[in-house]
Amino acid sequence: MKNLAAVNDDFNPTKGIQRARRLPDPELGVLWDSIILEDKLKEQLLSQAMLNFTLRGKVDRSVIPLHGVILLVGPPGTGKTSLARGLGHRTAESFRGGGFRLLEVEPHALTSSAMGKTQRTVSELFSQSIAEAAGSGPTIVLLDEVETLAADRSKMSLEANPIDIHRATDAVLVQLDALAERYPDLLFLATSNFPEAVDAAFTSRCDLVMQVPLPDREACRRILRDCLAGLGRTYPAIGKLPAAAGFDRCAAEYVGLDGRAIRKTVANALASSPQTAMNPERVTVQDLLSAARAAKAGRLPEGKAR
Ligand SMILES: Nc1ncnc2c1ncn2[C@@H]1O[C@H](COP(=O)(O)OP(=O)(O)OP(=O)(O)O)[C@@H](O)[C@H]1O
Ligand SMILES: [Mg+2]
Repeated sequence: MKNLAAVNDDFNPTKGIQRARRLPDPELGVLWDSIILEDKLKEQLLSQAMLNFTLRGKVDRSVIPLHGVILLVGPPGTGKTSLARGLGHRTAESFRGGGFRLLEVEPHALTSSAMGKTQRTVSELFSQSIAEAAGSGPTIVLLDEVETLAADRSKMSLEANPIDIHRATDAVLVQLDALAERYPDLLFLATSNFPEAVDAAFTSRCDLVMQVPLPDREACRRILRDCLAGLGRTYPAIGKLPAAAGFDRCAAEYVGLDGRAIRKTVANALASSPQTAMNPERVTVQDLLSAARAAKAGRLPEGKAR
């Protein structure tokens, strides 16, 4: 079994592929477990990914035209990228000894090519690098922030969005069709914060589009508990806070924040005074509650970047 460094080494590095690694990878299993989402949504995701590798090689595309693409959409910080990576691990783990590989595409590296070259770079990425990997074993490809690669062509003004990007979207669609025909053991996991900016023809090729929501009250409580339990491994007193009086009321104050913001808000609570920052075990439920209120008050109105 090769180690991670070797995996990156034996993969022919190409523009746009940020990282390649073999699956399963227990580190990604930890990530999957750390994202708190309704069990039924996680199960649906995993089942869809598994079905890709059981069905597509056996059933003709004229019966079910699967493309091997799952799209996760939702607000920033809701765990989409983490879920996608974790899903890669869990899928590979389900097919023991399957020789799976995870490739992570960096879309900005592709579209920042010199004018006129994006389409070619995109075509090469799919038809060479991804096809090569898919030809050598089951492959999962993370297409993060896919609106960059498959931008909605109907919304483009030629001034703001050069024709080059338009062609890049065309290239992605052509390549997805070609890869779907040839490689049944290939699965794309795409994410986007801006579903309205993703081209409709891309969305139409997705086998599943899943909305990843902001955490509800129960999920906020679980994320907070998980975060405090993690801190408790270093600072035992913090691990005991979920059992303290007023914890549930405090957790309810986190509703409205995304998962990333919840964890960052805990850090804000640890920084509620210089004394607590020096000795984090001093943090109280009241600090956690005040930090949540401050975090929500500090957020910009809907639609503005934080
Ligand atoms: N539902 C959740 N449960 C627990 N932790 C979460 C959740 N959502 C986000 N987080 C935390 O936020 C971090 C960032 O999540 P991630 O980068 O996967 O979000 P994202 O949806 O891809 O965000 P963006 O849209 O900004 O790229 C995670 O590492 C995790 O710690
Ligand atoms: Mg992300």
